[in-house]
Formats: sequence, C-alpha cells, structure tokens
Amino acid sequence: MGSVSLKIGDGTARFKRASVCSSALNLVMLFSVLTTNLFALYAFTSPQHSTRPSPHKNISVISEHVSLILREIDSSQRKLAQMEKELLGFEIIDTSKPNVPTELKLFLQNNPLPLGKDSKTGITEMVSSVGHSCAGSMELLAQYMNYKPGGPCPDDSSLAQKLILRGCEPLPRRRCLTKTIPKVGLSRSPLSLWEPVSDKILSWSGFGCKNSACHNAKNSGADFDLVGNGYEKQKWVKPRGKNDFLADDVLALGGGGIRIGFDIGGDSGHFAAVMAVKNVTIITSTLNPNAPYSEFIAARGLFPLFITPNQRFPFSDGVLDLVHTSKLSDGAPVEKLEFLMFDIDRVLRVGGLFWLDNYYCVDDESKKTLTRLIEKFGYKKLRWVVGEKADSSRSGKSQVYLSAVLQKSVRL
Ligand SMILES: *[C@@H]1O[C@H](CO)[C@@H](O)[C@H](O)[C@H]1NC(C)=O
Ligand SMILES: *[C@@H]1O[C@H](CO)[C@@H](O)[C@H](O)[C@H]1NC(C)=O
Repeated sequence: MGSVSLKIGDGTARFKRASVCSSALNLVMLFSVLTTNLFALYAFTSPQHSTRPSPHKNISVISEHVSLILREIDSSQRKLAQMEKELLGFEIIDTSKPNVPTELKLFLQNNPLPLGKDSKTGITEMVSSVGHSCAGSMELLAQYMNYKPGGPCPDDSSLAQKLILRGCEPLPRRRCLTKTIPKVGLSRSPLSLWEPVSDKILSWSGFGCKNSACHNAKNSGADFDLVGNGYEKQKWVKPRGKNDFLADDVLALGGGGIRIGFDIGGDSGHFAAVMAVKNVTIITSTLNPNAPYSEFIAARGLFPLFITPNQRFPFSDGVLDLVHTSKLSDGAPVEKLEFLMFDIDRVLRVGGLFWLDNYYCVDDESKKTLTRLIEKFGYKKLRWVVGEKADSSRSGKSQVYLSAVLQKSVRL
C-alpha cells in the first residue's frame, strides 16, 4: 500500500499512546490528590492538633503548619504540571543543552530584523519554525542536524521521515546539499501523466526495494505501475462499484467550478492524474514510506506535498474547490477526527466539495461516529453511499465502506 497506510498506522499508534498516557496521567492526578489530602488530614488530626490547642500551641504554630501544607500542595502541583508536559510531549527544544548541534542552534536563533520593525506585518524578529514534538526525539534530531555546513547532506531521507512521523513536523532547515539525480526523459504534460516513470530518475536509497518492479510486487496495489493492468487508470473513469464515483459526475456536481483541489494521502498521484486530464489541478499529499512517492508524482508532472495529515494544512481559509481522500484517522479518538475535519472544512470554499472516497470504517460504531461528525457541518449531501465488501482476508466478516460527496454551504 502507499504512503498513507503507514501514516495512519503511525497516527493510530500515537493516539493509542496518548490514551495510555492519559490514563497514566489520571493515575498521577489521583495519587497527587490522595497524597495531598492525606497530608492535610494528617496535619489536622495528628495528636497535637486534635486536642484543644494548649497555650503554647498558639496561632503562629498553626499558621506555620498551614503554610507548610500550602507549600506541599504548590510543589505537587508543579510536579504534576511537569509530568503532564512530559506525558503530552509539549516540551520545547532547549538549545542551551550540551547535546544540541550547532546547526540546530543557529537555525532556531531569532534575529532582530536589520531595518527594525516591519511596517506591514509588525514583526521585529526573524524566526524559524520547527515542530514542537521534535523535542521528544532530540537524539534523532541531533543526528539529523549533524552535518558539515555547505557540504553534502548525509544520505538520511529515512531519518527525516522517521522524525516527521514522530510529530517532528516541520523539520528544521539544513545547510547541506542533497544528492542530485539527472532527470532525463521527462515528457510534457499530459503525456507525462501515464507514461512509465524510469527507475533511474528516482532515488531508491534507503528503501528496501531498489526499483518499481520490486515495489509493485511487494505492494499488491501496483501503484508505480502506470501501464501494467491499467486498473488504476480506469479508476474514477470507468464505472465500477456503487461506492466508486466517476470524476466527471463529481465535477458536474460542483457546477463546473472545480478547478483546484487537494488529495490527502494520494499515494502515487493517480487521482491527480485523472483530474489533470480534466484540467483540474490537484495537490497530492504523501510521504515516502517505502518508495519515493513524491519523486514519482513529480515525474508525472503532478504536485506532491510532503506532509502528514497530522498538521494544519498549508492553505489559507476557503481557497480549495475540492478535497478528496479515502483515509482519515480511523479508530482515533473522535477529537482527533474533529481536528482533521474542521481543517478540511476550513480550507474548502463555500460551494466546494468534500469527496470521501471508499472510506473504510473499522466497524459500525466508527461509521456512526463519522456520520454524526460530518452532519455537524451541515454540508449538502450530494452523494452518500454505504457499501459492504466481502473481506478476503478475514473469513466471513464484511467490510463497511463509506463514499460521499458533500458540498460546503454558507454558514451565517
Ligand atoms: C507562639 O509560639 C511561638 C513559637 O512556638 C513563640 O515564639 C511565641 O512567643 C508564641 N506566642 C505566644 C503569644 O504565645
Ligand atoms: C482542458 O484544457 C484544454 C486547453 O485549454 C482544452 O483543449 C481541453 O478541452 C480541456 N479539457 C477538458 C476536459 O475540459
């Protein structure tokens, strides 16, 4: 499978970790509340306090005790906050630590603008951004930022991806030169869309497979095969199952105004290629989980975007005509799904379409949850098909798929 199964897998794993963390957090909180209360109980019920205050146990002794208790509460609260920070991973990169590479320090350093405050934006400093979760992978990050400035970059694209999948997104910039591969034999669009991509113009370094044939054989989707069975080429073009909408039909639902869009987790860019023939420009988000997907998409003359679905989409509000995906973070806590859906809603323009394409629901409950969530947005349901497919791997059980085309309407 393509990039996304990996991404989603990782996402889910992290959500699982988060829930483990939150129960750990609950335990810590419970423990802290109990100890604080027990301490207070002890302080007020221990013999010298339970008896009537004798003349020498005067008010200042009691107030001393009270302030001791308050200090104890204060310190447990601080400890708790620290634990919460660590468990949730909201650390910040402390560049004063000894193991931080110089290049990272230099990159993160804020510098005052040479001409003072910028009158248009009001900013006074040049800042650099890096994912806050990078602090949780400092060892890997240090490895990533350890290179000779101006020299060749280490051959470490898998390290970069590992960091991104751990939430270190965006990565810091580097001052090194990446390996170059001559891109020979690129053809013009639209010819390039379905022409075989030569293995020689892709970088297979760091991957198990060293060519497309191996990759296609290992991944039954044959997603780097643009000629072979032609199956992918017919997707969205020739009628198949009732869950498979045709590109032309969906574009017609949009009343002709569908020109630019975003395919979240679009593997090797087939959707963008089908749409390109219809003069619709699609940006495909993908990582390079086990093959150079981004390069492959680019070689087809399509636009790859190297981000996970976990970060805020790099588009301004209300600009896209279409958002297409078959993968959301299924099985994740509903809040995670909400953050994703709200961001999809944010980037869609009024009248724009959200095309949920053969979305696999792990169970009926997850389908209901998603349905409730989608309905909250008050989109016009232009298409809504729930289909079941026999599960070939697990005997007997059928799988539930949801396909929908939803139109964003004006909210007052
Ligand atoms: C109260 O107790 C403190 C210390 O035990 C002592 O210094 C102080 O003189 C006492 N005051 C009265 C009014 O007894
Ligand atoms: C796409 O645009 C080209 C050039 O403007 C035009 O010739 C062609 O008919 C268009 N294709 C579709 C499907 O609209």
